[in-house]
Amino acid sequence: MTDKKPMRILSGIQPSGVLHIGNYFGMMKPAIALQAEGEALYFIADYHALTSVRDPEALRENSRRVAVDFLACGLDPERATVFRHSDVPQVTELAWILSTVAPMGLLERATSYKDKLARGMAATVGLFNYPVLMAADILIYDSDIVPVGKDQKQHIEITRDLAVKINETFGHVFKLPEARIQAATETVPGIDGQKMSKSYGNNIDIFGDEKDTRKRVMSIVTDSSPVDAPKDPANSTIFKLYSLMASKNEIADMRDRSLKGGTGYSDFKKQLFEKLWEYFAPMRKRREEILSDKSYIEDVLARGAKRANEIADQVMQRVRAAVGLR
Ligand code: ADP
Ligand code: TRP
Repeated sequence: MTDKKPMRILSGIQPSGVLHIGNYFGMMKPAIALQAEGEALYFIADYHALTSVRDPEALRENSRRVAVDFLACGLDPERATVFRHSDVPQVTELAWILSTVAPMGLLERATSYKDKLARGMAATVGLFNYPVLMAADILIYDSDIVPVGKDQKQHIEITRDLAVKINETFGHVFKLPEARIQAATETVPGIDGQKMSKSYGNNIDIFGDEKDTRKRVMSIVTDSSPVDAPKDPANSTIFKLYSLMASKNEIADMRDRSLKGGTGYSDFKKQLFEKLWEYFAPMRKRREEILSDKSYIEDVLARGAKRANEIADQVMQRVRAAVGLR
């Protein structure tokens, strides 16, 4: 394609629970930064969340809440198109078309499906087909860049494979998107040191209340080094989390004090909590403002849906024509 359109940036987030700081540093923060670099489209992936959420009220409420929280964290609806996945139902049609060229073996190799089964989720066709719907999400907007956490990298590779399949079969239909993964925050650890994830119960939420957040931080798992002993910052979840929010000098100071010994983990945890609470304070304030205007979020989502549909309709016309529908 020879168009000189601005770079199109797309990402989605599932409304399957409350957002945590792993989501923030792994996906939301880079996505927010990218909104200045092109045309950004960010959506609340409620179709995807149907693979795990069975309570309709909870799904509706979470979708709204995730939209509010994302805006509170800095998404600017004047710059970015913010919308609900299910407001663009054409994406399920594209998922069907992609599924007709998707090799079974490609999906069978998808690690997130296997991980989800290992965590006890039922082996549904929807869960298996998740990467195909995700490919449709990306391709239906002619997306160039997809900011996501590292665990989503394979899904972007599958998206490219499916786009190539369609292009080889039907001529040039899709451009190939690229994942944008933040090297510095590839995987944010949770309070047990594993990858932070709501499904592991090791999360620190962005908008948790003060008491609960402090409790979560104070329960970060550490080794049993005594106060006097030097502590290796490279192995410390406290240090890793602190480094995401603190200034260079503050980070260097914590590193020195760790290596020197004489400071206990509980002091470092207190310092981390203070930093975390201060870091998200402007976002908490913005969130209160958004919540105080009852129609604001619905207005933003309605505007977003309109713009997203304009693009999706155009691309779907091209796809239908290419494969022989209409
Ligand atoms: P969860 O694992 O809590 O269910 P999701 O899978 O819904 O989180 O992730 C939403 C987005 O946040 C994805 O782009 C994902 O890569 C990113 N993300 C989630 N957890 C982390 C983490 N611990 N570190 C970095 N990025 C993360
Ligand atoms: N699968 C992503 C997650 O679980 C969410 C998602 C759905 C997404 N569709 C997308 C991300 C398209 C980027 C692009 O986090």
